[in-house]
Amino acid sequence: MRILDVGCGVKKYAGSVGIDRNLASAADVICDLDCFPYPFADHSFDGLRAIHVIEHVQDVIRTMEEFHRLVRPGGRVRIETPHYTDFSSFCDPTHRSHLNSYSFRYFGEDHAGFGYYSNVRFREISVRLKLLNLWRWLGFEFLVNHFRGFRKFWEHYLCFVVRGKVMEFEFEPLP
Ligand SMILES: C[S@@+](CC[C@H](N)C(=O)[O-])C[C@H]1O[C@@H](n2cnc3c(N)ncnc32)[C@H](O)[C@@H]1O
Repeated sequence: MRILDVGCGVKKYAGSVGIDRNLASAADVICDLDCFPYPFADHSFDGLRAIHVIEHVQDVIRTMEEFHRLVRPGGRVRIETPHYTDFSSFCDPTHRSHLNSYSFRYFGEDHAGFGYYSNVRFREISVRLKLLNLWRWLGFEFLVNHFRGFRKFWEHYLCFVVRGKVMEFEFEPLP
């Protein structure tokens, strides 16, 4: 399995190819994620990880398109990023985007009516939310993760009080 760890920082995923712009990182290739294309051929990777990185890039749509180009059809793209209601989302001034669990829907099959924003499509394999400990202990995390309808209700009505923490997405690039 060839895995690309995008914005790998100092904790590069074992066995992966790491890219980052920071010379002090564990990157194998130094590159700027806001400059396209990244220096790899189409479909070079079976999997790609972007852990606490997508919120840093200038253009989320263009970056997802680049992820789509780099990963073979049937491969996996794993994204972890703060939910916008978490403290970490706004306390880091290098975060450019503040996202929720529907922020990648333009790449989905129904694309929320905005399919023309991008031509690339991903199948959403899983979305998992972590909530702050108190809310996890009270069962909200279970409800959000096990009932789609409840997640929507939570995003619309509850999340400013029952705050989120981290979102974990797994996508499959579609041809
Ligand atoms: C919050 S750290 C996450 C590091 C690592 N993925 C982890 O989970 O520990 C964000 C990383 O993205 C890198 N990064 C942010 N913007 C970048 C850019 N435009 N080009 C390249 N790397 C970038 C930073 O240098 C940093 O290493």
